[in-house]
Amino acid sequence: MAPLVQNYVVLNGNVELLRGLTIAIIGYGNQGRAQATIMRDSGLKVIVGNVRDEYWETAKRDGFEVYEIGEAARRADVIMMLLPDEVQPYVFKEQVAPAVKDRRVIIDFASGYNVAFGLIEPPREADVVLVAPRMIGAAMLELHRRGRGFPVFLGVANDASGRAWDYAAALGAAIGALGKPGGIGIKVTFKQEALVDLLDEHTNWPLLLASLMAFYDVTVHKYGVPPEAVLLEMYASGEMAEVASRMAEMGVFDQLRLHSTTSQYGQLSRALKYYDYVRRVVEEEAREIWEGDFAREWGLEQLAGRPKFRALWDIVTSGEMHQAEKRLFELMGMTLDNK
Ligand code: NAI
Repeated sequence: MAPLVQNYVVLNGNVELLRGLTIAIIGYGNQGRAQATIMRDSGLKVIVGNVRDEYWETAKRDGFEVYEIGEAARRADVIMMLLPDEVQPYVFKEQVAPAVKDRRVIIDFASGYNVAFGLIEPPREADVVLVAPRMIGAAMLELHRRGRGFPVFLGVANDASGRAWDYAAALGAAIGALGKPGGIGIKVTFKQEALVDLLDEHTNWPLLLASLMAFYDVTVHKYGVPPEAVLLEMYASGEMAEVASRMAEMGVFDQLRLHSTTSQYGQLSRALKYYDYVRRVVEEEAREIWEGDFAREWGLEQLAGRPKFRALWDIVTSGEMHQAEKRLFELMGMTLDNK
């Protein structure tokens, strides 16, 4: 029996829809290089738009035609916006929007953030789609070489042609996500993508970071445990990374069966003990993202020259735990760079 597929699940796309179109990759970084390479392997016509920096040189070396961003956008039928999110609004306004004026193009984003929070207002005549890989570029290339797909979120903010969803799915297949084992597309809105992307960064990771920092302070300073033992226990041994891999392969709950029963009891009883408190944290962070408070906070921080961002980095890198990490990695013959 065929598996039951919900109507928001997309398993493949028709790459033929893109045949004969010129696809401009705007930004040849982490995502840009991977997407350009995989689409060229799919037999599509790909050009690159970039500023004249080292990424321009890399794209040239990789054999692509490289143009100034505005010129690439002028030549393109499909524009893939793959610059850092904080750079996109002014590049879009100054170079891409004038180049696509009154033309029916497809504009693709790999992140919902700028469109969701009104920092980019794409033209009405364009199809505006979201094809947001859940994968870093280097891993996309590696999976592509092994003939495997990966998860991608798909969205449509503007359906001028009436076929924007087909184009989103086609791009999902063209960048190597769909139509292969391990590939799956999930339809979301731009704002939902921005919500889950940011909420993961504002809850799961910082709660873990805060827990690691507090764990270090308590065990080292109240109980006299050697810092090295604490760091190895928490993550420096690599065990945490192993557990994370098992979560992706087996599920967050079933992987628990690989741990001792003492560990299973401890983890489950404490997760439920803290649930109500953490739920309130998650609820508040989600509200701040959804209502645009975070986009405003980060926008103002950037306008001010990122003083708080720099101060936060100073606090953690001058802290004792960071120094202890450096000492441990030196003892083990590793450096922070090559670990
Ligand atoms: P990146 O940081 O690797 O981008 C580098 C590119 O941006 C280079 O081509 C560089 O020339 C250009 N660039 C940097 N500053 C510039 C400026 N001031 N003016 C003009 N060009 C400039 O970007 P990344 O990480 O590939 O992100 C691209 C998009 O993909 C973003 O929307 C991001 O949210 C999304 N995304 C990124 C993922 C990742 O693994 N990094 C995963 C999924 C989505």
